Amino acid sequence: MFYKIITLTFSLLHCFVPLFGRRHHPQVCYSIQTDKAALLAFKNGLSSDPYSSLANWNERNDVCNFTRVKCGKLHHRVVDLNLNDNALSGLLSPVLANLTQLRNLSLSHNHFFGTIPQEFSSLRHLQELELGSNNLHGLIPHSLSSLSQLTFITLDHNNLRGEIPSSFFSNCTKLKVVDFSSNQLTGTIPGEIGSCPDLLAVNLYNNQLHGKIPGSLGNATCLYNLDVECNYLSGELPSEMLAKLHKMLYLHLSNNYMISHSNNSDLDPFFTALANCTELAELQLASNGLGGTLPHSIGGLSKYLEELQLQENHIFGSIPPQIGYLQSLTILNLTSNLFTGTVSKEIGKLKHLEQLSLSFNFFTTILTPFENLSSLGLVDLSHNNLSGRIPEELGNLAGLCFLFLNNNLLSGEIPLSLGSCTALQALDLSYNQLTGEVPPELSGFHEMRRFMNLSHNQLRGTMELSKLSAVEEIDLSSNYFSGNNIFNMISSCFELKVLNLSNNSLQGHLPESLGDLKSIVAFDVSRNKLSGKIPASLNKITTLTLLNLAFNNFDGTIPTGGRFDSMTYMSFIGNQRLCGRIPGIPVCRRGRHYFHSHIFVIIFCVVIFISGICTIVCCLMRYRRSRATIVRKQELDLTQNYPRITYKELLDATDGFNEQRLVGSGSYGRVYRGILSDHGTQIAVKSYVKRHFQSEGERVVDTVLLRALGEERDEVKRIWEVAIIELMELGLLCTRESPSTRPTMLDCADDLDRLKTYLNGDTTATFASSHGISSSTYSFD
Ligand SMILES: *[C@@H]1O[C@H](CO)[C@@H](O)[C@H](O)[C@H]1NC(C)=O
Ligand SMILES: *[C@@H]1O[C@H](CO)[C@@H](O)[C@H](O)[C@H]1NC(C)=O
Ligand SMILES: *[C@@H]1O[C@H](CO)[C@@H](O)[C@H](O)[C@H]1NC(C)=O
Ligand SMILES: *[C@@H]1O[C@H](CO)[C@@H](O)[C@H](O)[C@H]1NC(C)=O
Ligand SMILES: *[C@@H]1O[C@H](CO)[C@@H](O)[C@H](O)[C@H]1NC(C)=O
Ligand SMILES: *[C@@H]1O[C@H](CO)[C@@H](O)[C@H](O)[C@H]1NC(C)=O
Ligand SMILES: *[C@@H]1O[C@H](CO)[C@@H](O)[C@H](O)[C@H]1NC(C)=O
Ligand SMILES: *[C@@H]1O[C@H](CO)[C@@H](O)[C@H](O)[C@H]1NC(C)=O
Ligand SMILES: *[C@@H]1O[C@H](CO)[C@@H](O)[C@H](O)[C@H]1NC(C)=O
Ligand SMILES: *[C@@H]1O[C@H](CO)[C@@H](O)[C@H](O)[C@H]1NC(C)=O
Ligand SMILES: *[C@@H]1O[C@H](CO)[C@@H](O)[C@H](O)[C@H]1NC(C)=O
Ligand SMILES: *[C@@H]1O[C@H](CO)[C@@H](O)[C@H](O)[C@H]1NC(C)=O
Repeated sequence: MFYKIITLTFSLLHCFVPLFGRRHHPQVCYSIQTDKAALLAFKNGLSSDPYSSLANWNERNDVCNFTRVKCGKLHHRVVDLNLNDNALSGLLSPVLANLTQLRNLSLSHNHFFGTIPQEFSSLRHLQELELGSNNLHGLIPHSLSSLSQLTFITLDHNNLRGEIPSSFFSNCTKLKVVDFSSNQLTGTIPGEIGSCPDLLAVNLYNNQLHGKIPGSLGNATCLYNLDVECNYLSGELPSEMLAKLHKMLYLHLSNNYMISHSNNSDLDPFFTALANCTELAELQLASNGLGGTLPHSIGGLSKYLEELQLQENHIFGSIPPQIGYLQSLTILNLTSNLFTGTVSKEIGKLKHLEQLSLSFNFFTTILTPFENLSSLGLVDLSHNNLSGRIPEELGNLAGLCFLFLNNNLLSGEIPLSLGSCTALQALDLSYNQLTGEVPPELSGFHEMRRFMNLSHNQLRGTMELSKLSAVEEIDLSSNYFSGNNIFNMISSCFELKVLNLSNNSLQGHLPESLGDLKSIVAFDVSRNKLSGKIPASLNKITTLTLLNLAFNNFDGTIPTGGRFDSMTYMSFIGNQRLCGRIPGIPVCRRGRHYFHSHIFVIIFCVVIFISGICTIVCCLMRYRRSRATIVRKQELDLTQNYPRITYKELLDATDGFNEQRLVGSGSYGRVYRGILSDHGTQIAVKSYVKRHFQSEGERVVDTVLLRALGEERDEVKRIWEVAIIELMELGLLCTRESPSTRPTMLDCADDLDRLKTYLNGDTTATFASSHGISSSTYSFD
């Protein structure tokens, strides 16, 4: 009763207030009924609601029971509408402005289009307005400045243009969070932003704002996040302002046109001012064209600083020893500056350092002891003037994944210790003056996935590649490698896409096993001393687009078929004794010449005679073993229809088990949708084996086994299927990309043992190994 009276009073108030306030407006009595009408009108205006999120929004239901709608307890009106992330599309309708008691309006991550309605100015109680990640265009309406209660506004990732209305900041004085990033806003950041002393976060990145960052922002003493990256902001770095922002945590000013003090020559005042931001965790100043040297005051930066990004500026001189004080640093990026001198030994004190990028400078020596940098995963010192030997201490970095020392003046041999960096995924030592043989330890990088580039050095001897079974690109070109051992068991490099051995002194024949490199895209052995026939197996590789065998001593006929049919003579040029059908290459002279010779006639007769005898013998044998032959033929058939599938191919097919491809999850694990690249087959991974081969098990399995299956009872048949499926799944797991996720021999043995138990009738046996063979029994669903 009491509640009803209050509601009534409020309704009355709403009827009469406008009567005195704005005489010129038509009289509308806003109530829970107008709220419902507005929401239904809004729903009607939508063009798509793919998840049926608004299914219960209809005349029959109470508006306060609509999903994602909340009513106020005190006055019975809609106060909260949250439709974030619903893939809704439609015009952003002004009718929402009728929800006059709304406090939160959240429509982010949908496909709303149109402009932000002027009418939203009547949402006088609005505290949170979230319209980010839609397709809105037009201006930010001036009328939003009536929303004096706003604390949180996000309009990011739309196509809004024009200026930020200055009245917006002068009236919305309770603002805490502003996000207008990733739009096309122009003009300057209004100085009125200083009237919002409660600001905590200001995100304006990815716009076209120019001018200076207003000093008045120094009023927002609680500001902890300022991100204005990727604009056209100019002027001196805002030191005075920052000195007042003691709470600053994330300061992102990269990709603008700001300069340092004293006409872009002095960074000291800026770093000194930042000393007051005692909690600063990220400082990003990349790509501004900042000049000056790195001052000693850098040591006064927050002891919590994790990221220091100063790349793409004009900072010169050496790295000051005070860098060693920044004990929490994980990322240090000084790439593309004008640094000279030594890579200082104080960097060796940054225990938490994970990524060190000092490329594209003029450093001449490395003095850093790497012994304590156990977290370091990336070291990029490429494109400098480093000379001397590669530091042995790099071998201490057991977690190192990326090592780039290319394009320097490094000499001497590659240190053996580098072989201890077993986590390396990419190694680039190209364009140096390295000599000697490659230590055999370097061939043992099982984890290496991306590339190994040793090109353009003076390396000798040979190198074994067969253990680099996961690597995609190998470039050993322009060295003095010799012999033929490089090709030993080359087909173990399953993932190899690019192999460049050009410009060395390799000798001998190319092996037929090259045809087993089924992912290879580019194969370059030009400018060596290779001889013999070109392996015809190369025409099996469907992925091959670049084949370069030029300038060797190959002879004989260029094979035909497959990729060979689209090759030009450029691939074979400089091999005097090659012939074939490719334009520009001499045609092979055969046929007539041989046909008329005596030897040919004799050989011909002998061959006919022998084959006659063979035919008779074979027919006899065939008669006896006809059944076995059928079996073998079918086996052949199945390897063609069901080629080996590796874990990597499953990864590719599902975009790396992308969440968006998740079809469902249940007791059997998660199921992903995917498409295999080579045969375009739609698959469902995880229950992959189960779905893909369901009811086709017979065709994948040895027919001898199947005969055993014969007319058996359903139950026995099912037991067999379980066995087969489990074996296939085990096979798939064994092809996982990194060894640590592959089942061990023990796991396999254990699984097979349990399978045996199962086949012996104990159907309670499960196969849940530590490696994700999670399903126990095969279910027919
Ligand atoms: C919204 O309010 C306006 C007046 O401000 C009124 O004319 C209109 O009918 C209302 N719309 C709905 C759907 O209630
Ligand atoms: C709203 O939903 C609740 C619970 O689902 C139900 O008890 C109530 O009757 C509904 N109210 C109306 C008016 O439909
Ligand atoms: C608005 O949203 C905020 C945070 O999302 C929440 O704390 C607040 O309770 C909401 N207000 C209403 C009226 O639902
Ligand atoms: C500021 O907000 C108040 C209250 O909402 C409003 O009456 C006034 O018109 C607003 N001022 C401007 C310049 O928008
Ligand atoms: C900073 O805030 C004070 C009050 O807190 C106000 O008087 C002053 O105008 C503000 N400065 C700017 C530049 O807006
Ligand atoms: C600032 O430096 C630029 C170029 O470095 C120079 O042209 C200009 O005169 C300098 N301005 C002052 C005030 O020193
Ligand atoms: C740092 O803050 C203190 C007060 O907290 C102030 O006295 C000092 O001037 C500030 N430093 C700078 C460089 O502005
Ligand atoms: C350092 O900056 C360069 C851009 O100049 C970028 O390519 C590189 O990825 C950055 N490195 C790190 C570790 O952030
Ligand atoms: C590495 O750490 C040890 C133990 O903390 C210390 O004694 C040694 O001096 C450190 N080495 C360097 C180069 O900082
Ligand atoms: C860096 O090396 C290049 C080429 O060797 C040389 O021309 C240049 O003077 C060197 N620069 C510095 C700063 O040492
Ligand atoms: C070294 O080889 C890799 C892989 O082929 C390539 O990505 C990289 O750019 C090469 N490095 C240089 C300096 O060319
Ligand atoms: C292999 O390396 C040589 C030079 O070292 C280069 O000219 C050639 O383009 C490279 N081949 C491929 C396929 O990248």
